[in-house]
Amino acid sequence: MHPMVNIAVRAARSAGNVIVRNSDRLDRIQVETKGANDFVSEVDIAAEREIVNTLRRAYPDHGILGEESGGEARGDYLWVIDPLDGTTNFLHGFPHFAVSIALLHRGVPEAGVIYDPIRQELFTATRGGGATLEGRRMRMRERRSINDALLGTGFPFRHPEHKPAYLGMFADVLDSARDIRRAGSAALDLAYVAAGRLDGFWEIGLNRWDIAAGALLVQEAGGIVTDFTGSPAFLETGNVAAGSLKLHADLLAHLRPHLTEALGG
Ligand code: IPD
Ligand code: CA
Ligand code: CA
Repeated sequence: MHPMVNIAVRAARSAGNVIVRNSDRLDRIQVETKGANDFVSEVDIAAEREIVNTLRRAYPDHGILGEESGGEARGDYLWVIDPLDGTTNFLHGFPHFAVSIALLHRGVPEAGVIYDPIRQELFTATRGGGATLEGRRMRMRERRSINDALLGTGFPFRHPEHKPAYLGMFADVLDSARDIRRAGSAALDLAYVAAGRLDGFWEIGLNRWDIAAGALLVQEAGGIVTDFTGSPAFLETGNVAAGSLKLHADLLAHLRPHLTEALGG
């Protein structure tokens, strides 16, 4: 394994241990509100500290952008961390969340690690080196059209201004797709697309730490990730559509009629 991936895996597993250790004391966890429907718990912070300590020890010259501790640009390398993606699930005892760690080199994702500490599933990818689930190579399954597809999505529950556009997209996709899942962790949604458990995914207004690792997993498993206009600038806009080649094109065709100016329409 690539040495930087090795370090990221070590960091993700130790953050996962922090999360699991705390999952049987949910009623005693301290939680603060960052914004509308946006919570940070002492567990998010402790998990991020584990990751930052591990990365700093190995790569003192690299920059780190953590969801909870903010950013720091240094040199060409930047680690982008979501210590607990799916905090709402975690706080409610809904066992579906993950640790997400990506390494960017001059802004381009080079490595990604997503770890589900409940199922103990590890997803990794390196640019040009493929994507794996528990060490086995992942290749996405091609779906010809949205009619045969099981799709993942996230609700714009922190972006009420996008609700009308989103509901239009949702109704349109629901009319065509086999079914839709809203599981509550964008990082795991993307990892599941890479693994072929979902055929595609879309969400409005994500952050870099939600998507950088997962998008690389999808691309390295043979899939396509863009924003809703088909542009590769999804890390900047946070608007993400992912799927295998034909499915991705079909998904964009169903989203396009609902795009507002703010979403690139
Ligand atoms: C959230 C989850 C959720 C998605 C939100 C994200 P957090 O991350 O990925 O599925 O719908 O947009 O912000 O806050 O739990 O790290
Ligand atoms: Ca997140
Ligand atoms: Ca988080």
